[in-house]
Amino acid sequence: MTKFHILTLFPEMIRQGLSSSILGRAAQKGLLSLNAVDIRDYTLDKHGKVDDYIFGGGAGMLMQAQPVYDAHRAVTGGRAVRTIYMTPQGRPFTQRMAEDFAEEEELVFLCGHYEGIDERVLERVVTDQVSIGDYVLTGGELAAMVVIDVIARLIPGVLGNDESAGEESFFNDLLEYPQYSRPEEWQGSRVPEVLLSGNHRQIAAWRLEQSRQRTAARRPDLYAKYRQKQELIGRLSGQKRNNIHMMESLARGRADILYTDFRGRDTAVLLYDRKARICMMDAPDQESGERMAEMLPEDTNMVLVSRPFLRDILTKRQYTVFGEFFQMLYTRKETLPVRHKEIRQLSLDDLPYVCKWYGADGADGPDVDDGYVRERILAKAMYGAFLDGRQVGFVGMHDEGSLGMLFVEEAYRGRGIASSLEAFAVNRMLERGWVPYGHVSVENTASRNLQEKLGFYKAEKSFWWLEKILANNA
Ligand code: ADE
Repeated sequence: MTKFHILTLFPEMIRQGLSSSILGRAAQKGLLSLNAVDIRDYTLDKHGKVDDYIFGGGAGMLMQAQPVYDAHRAVTGGRAVRTIYMTPQGRPFTQRMAEDFAEEEELVFLCGHYEGIDERVLERVVTDQVSIGDYVLTGGELAAMVVIDVIARLIPGVLGNDESAGEESFFNDLLEYPQYSRPEEWQGSRVPEVLLSGNHRQIAAWRLEQSRQRTAARRPDLYAKYRQKQELIGRLSGQKRNNIHMMESLARGRADILYTDFRGRDTAVLLYDRKARICMMDAPDQESGERMAEMLPEDTNMVLVSRPFLRDILTKRQYTVFGEFFQMLYTRKETLPVRHKEIRQLSLDDLPYVCKWYGADGADGPDVDDGYVRERILAKAMYGAFLDGRQVGFVGMHDEGSLGMLFVEEAYRGRGIASSLEAFAVNRMLERGWVPYGHVSVENTASRNLQEKLGFYKAEKSFWWLEKILANNA
């Protein structure tokens, strides 16, 4: 649960603004909490005053340090909690900043009024200064509500629909295409014919083209980024089996391009999935490999490479081999038959079962970690198999988008349940327009055979997942 504390002179404004609609429901469901704190409650002035004249002169009044500081202390109890001061002088707010803030369990928002707040208390308590645009509001409350709204919809479970916000749509980097509802004709304007055709392929193509045109016209900056990604996907598609992880991370809007260098047939590329905190790297030579190793973001937890010399470059740095894997991909568009009927998306009620078994028999994946499994379930990325209502296995999608986490209890193996689980997950990925792929440990012949039976191909190269050696683990 993410806790939002808002320090303000107008707590009612925050309560009214955030208590209805989706955020109100999320608070009721216990996915987040909103705590609007009245700074005035903390003033030591007997008349309830919180502001005063500005030293050195100047128009207006300034909020004083003491009440702000005490309100902050009351909320944090002196713990280091990320504290965001809403001000037009702050860093311009973006979706990426929201993703970063969404990682925190607790956030304090400080809303200013009048001419601002005494600098000394800002220096003491504020960790981030954020602006929502180049204009001046009467106070920070509306700005804080904007930022909270954007962060809240990233919290798993807050959005009700199937598309979780983190797994961006196919139209990533492009503006949304125009949409229409009934009636088919309104004031003489008809809905574009293709949308009534029922031909999903044609509809998707039309929407993509509309998105492209719109983005090129309205946001040339975004369009340039989109074109760069498309060009790279095109390059990588020359070796699809080896590169599907990078192609899919780009196509699904997960990865940023940190570095590319096209030279002849070879491509040096460094991608960063900042939500999963993983990097994917490929390089034709030692020199570009070394250069990219220098560029790995500080908070990278894992790196995926498919060449031994890249693995060696990284193990000479702060990384250690987590495992060797085969990359498997399913390139067909047709869905797979699911023979076992009792399969459904998991909910938090199923968390104890998954935690009990995930990784227990040496299944692929990171060390069992309640937090990770919980996040995967909330992201609607886990499916379970049941027999007469009792759970017997599960499958899931990892946070960077690969298929994995397969498990079936020993007593129930050999009846096609694992294969049905895999097929079920593959079908969900196909529905989203994705190419399903995953990494199977080189020792896990059973899993590989199963996937090959379903129609997966294996990439020629081996892949290594490398894990960062944390200083306190060393
Ligand atoms: N307070 C006043 N104007 C603001 C803005 N544009 N962004 C954030 N906080 C503000």
